Amino acid sequence: MDDKTLLERAHDARERAYAPYSGFCVGAALLAKSGEVYAGCNVENASYGATNCAERTAFFKAVSEGEREFSKIAIVGGKDCEAAYCPPCGICRQVMREFCNPKEFYIVLEDGDGGVKKFLLGELLPEGFGPENL
Ligand code: THU
Repeated sequence: MDDKTLLERAHDARERAYAPYSGFCVGAALLAKSGEVYAGCNVENASYGATNCAERTAFFKAVSEGEREFSKIAIVGGKDCEAAYCPPCGICRQVMREFCNPKEFYIVLEDGDGGVKKFLLGELLPEGFGPENL
């Protein structure tokens, strides 16, 4: 699946975001090597720390369905549904690191200006701690 199509799936997921506290709606679409796409949105909570990010929602859905290998993730987010640059938070980068090769897994983002930015996980989480470090 190409990057633009995966970003569209992330936009669809963002419409389902539950973000009554921040008003910041995020959608993610995770492409597994099986070819299946797992969508996720952020799910906030009155106890703010219990909030789950869109990326982790997508990963946990996928892993709980038996997926373990992934190619790339598209992420879109912004306040009041405006297109903005929404790089993944540190906790989500660490979750990606658990399942993905930092030299092969891509993170696809909108730049907030009509363009697309694409990074390898290793660029956004250099020298990360992963399963092989244990
Ligand atoms: N959020 C995500 O879903 N993903 C990120 O990588 C950054 C932050 C959510 C969490 C919270 O619901 C809102 O955006 C504001 O932080």
